[in-house]
Amino acid sequence: MPCRWQGPGHEVTGFDADEQMLLRCRPKAQGLSLRVYRADAAIEGWGEGFDLVVLAGNLLINIETQMDYKAAQALFVQKAAKARRRAGTSIWTLTCTQTPRPSSIA
Ligand SMILES: C[S@@+](CC[C@H](N)C(=O)[O-])C[C@H]1O[C@@H](n2cnc3c(N)ncnc32)[C@H](O)[C@@H]1O
Repeated sequence: MPCRWQGPGHEVTGFDADEQMLLRCRPKAQGLSLRVYRADAAIEGWGEGFDLVVLAGNLLINIETQMDYKAAQALFVQKAAKARRRAGTSIWTLTCTQTPRPSSIA
C-alpha cells in the first residue's frame, strides 16, 4: 500500500486485489484523506513520489500471483522502491508467530 502518511495534511493511497479488504479499510480511516482502489499489484503501476510505501499485513508472503513466487517478491520490492520519492521509506511488515510446543513451555 503506497501512502502519503496519514494525519493532518497527509494523504493516504492504498490498493488491494480484494474488494472486501478495501471495504474493511474505509471505517478505520474516518477523517483521513484516503483514496483506495482495486488493483493487481503485480500488473498495475503503483504511482510515484510517495513519502512512505508500506507493504502491510505480511504481503510479501501472501502474494496472489501466477508468477514465479520469488520473482513476484522481487517485483514488489522493486515497485515499492520506484513508488517512493528518492529520500522516501519502504516498510515491509512481517509478523512472525510461532505456536509454542508443550515441551518448550515450562
Ligand atoms: C495478509 S492480507 C493483508 C491485508 C491488509 N494489507 C492488512 O494489513 O490487514 C494480504 C493482502 O494482500 C493482497 N494481495 C495479495 N496479492 C495481491 C496482488 N497481486 N495485488 C494486490 N493485492 C494483493 C490480498 O488481497 C490481501 O488482502
